[in-house]
Amino acid sequence: MSKPIYVLSGPNLNLLGVREPEIYGKETLDDVRTRCERRAGALGRVIVFRQSNHEGELIDWVQEARLEACALVINPAGYGHTSVALLDALKTLDIPVIECHLSNPAAREAFRRETYVSLAATGVVSGFGGASYELAVEAAAGLAR
Ligand code: DQA
Repeated sequence: MSKPIYVLSGPNLNLLGVREPEIYGKETLDDVRTRCERRAGALGRVIVFRQSNHEGELIDWVQEARLEACALVINPAGYGHTSVALLDALKTLDIPVIECHLSNPAAREAFRRETYVSLAATGVVSGFGGASYELAVEAAAGLAR
């Protein structure tokens, strides 16, 4: 059995569906998890799907992924724009890292146009709502050894 794809979500994404639905859509994070599980299953992969509002917990999971995952999908949410520590953790990985966003941060406020995470990402998927996660899982499955 191959290692799982880790799918990590950062702060406030537990409120998906009620949080600024005009930007992030009406799907809940559980809906997104179901999409990811189905897409991964169709590709013969399994996922580990987690969300945290805490920077250190996300970093612990990235470190865990270094040993336990075949690829990592991460929506760092606000931490993408602020966290050098998360970037440093991602730089320790030698598996594919797919950054994903529900919205298209490049088309929003100036402070969202750059993410530290992009410096460690193999590729970025953004702007497709919940489908961004699915596309990111597909990319991860294709790149993973
Ligand atoms: C987000 C975009 C970020 O700028 C924002 O801070 C989020 C969500 C997205 O999925 O579109 O929390 O990562």
